[in-house]
Amino acid sequence: MKTTRPLPTISFVVFFSSLVLRSNAYKFHRINLTSGANGPESLAFDCDEGGPYTGVSDGRIFKWGGRKHGWSEFAVTSQDRKRDLCDGSNDPKLEHICGRPLGLQFNKATCELYIADAYFGLFVVSRYGGVATLLASRAEGVPLRFTNSVDIDTDDGAVYFTDTSMYYQRREFLQVIQGNDSSGRLLKYDMQSKNVTVLLRGLPFANGVALSKDHSYILIAETTSRQVLRYWLKGSKANTVEVFAHFPSYIDNIRRNTKGEFWVALNNGKRRNEKSDNVTSTSTEENIVATRIDEEGQILEVLKDNYGGKYLEYVSEVLDANGKLWVGSVRDPFLSFSKT
Ligand SMILES: *[C@@H]1O[C@H](CO)[C@@H](O)[C@H](O)[C@H]1NC(C)=O
Ligand SMILES: *[C@@H]1O[C@H](CO)[C@@H](O)[C@H](O)[C@H]1NC(C)=O
Ligand SMILES: *[C@@H]1O[C@H](CO)[C@@H](O)[C@H](O)[C@H]1NC(C)=O
Ligand SMILES: *[C@@H]1O[C@H](CO)[C@@H](O)[C@H](O)[C@H]1NC(C)=O
Repeated sequence: MKTTRPLPTISFVVFFSSLVLRSNAYKFHRINLTSGANGPESLAFDCDEGGPYTGVSDGRIFKWGGRKHGWSEFAVTSQDRKRDLCDGSNDPKLEHICGRPLGLQFNKATCELYIADAYFGLFVVSRYGGVATLLASRAEGVPLRFTNSVDIDTDDGAVYFTDTSMYYQRREFLQVIQGNDSSGRLLKYDMQSKNVTVLLRGLPFANGVALSKDHSYILIAETTSRQVLRYWLKGSKANTVEVFAHFPSYIDNIRRNTKGEFWVALNNGKRRNEKSDNVTSTSTEENIVATRIDEEGQILEVLKDNYGGKYLEYVSEVLDANGKLWVGSVRDPFLSFSKT
């Protein structure tokens, strides 16, 4: 892999000074999951701006219909999923039976939902939901072990997705971290040829992906190295990769907004210091749960957990959509949102 290493555009110093520029003006609300499941990791809106949709720990993908209609079951990734065993489960030991849909992205051209299921691979399901269709479960003969995040180029029918590790499954994510595993891959599924191509390999904890607004590059989060890579798809640098930005903590999903900026989620687990909202305190870094960056990797905004852990724990994704900021979580039984 050709990796050039320019000076990182985001330094710790910038991180701290940017904290002074911005304090949270958001008023968050919770949407509790109802099933007993947790971990609404990734969020997506359909062609009619319906949703959000989210995949949870029991393997189901739900659609939020607003306070009046609540949650409704939309899709699952396995025909063999055992409803008695799985519904409402948050037991990681059942995930390989129930499925664990982590990455979601609607194809805005066809209104189909693409799903990265951690255990089963890449799927697609129509706008009417049901049992999703498997598109890919291996690449270069190597099984997808920990499929994670997905984004779509509707112009050329390319579906970009990550496989976090060739050796460990999602429930073994600590081993990916502690074992310093660097077997993650960036993959491309071609809708016409149905071929899967490996674009990058040897990534430490390959996680979120997000295409740029003009589709000339894709960003890839490396959770454990705490950096975001930029892989060029078009132009003179096509097929090369560079370090785009560094962060002070574990990175999860990346989502682009309509302006072409990116929200990068920083999973800092559970809030450790309930009282601190002090930019000089060492716990400040732990309170940063996401940052908004521009196409040069410069920080535009820092989202901190100033809410006593009530809304912004284990943050996996921040999605700016439909005039709201939506926040997903790796393991909480709710998602949060605020008007922007
Ligand atoms: C969500 O659940 C929490 C804890 O069970 C509860 O305190 C809160 O009122 C619920 N919020 C909503 C909006 O239902
Ligand atoms: C983890 O792997 C990276 C790159 O493969 C290496 O530079 C680093 O020293 C390793 N860290 C540990 C703790 O083994
Ligand atoms: C799929 O990819 C392989 C190797 O990458 C290539 O040889 C083959 O022609 C491709 N098939 C299609 C239908 O594009
Ligand atoms: C912020 O932290 C510094 C150093 O720990 C401390 O001296 C100061 O009183 C704190 N300020 C507030 C508002 O808590």
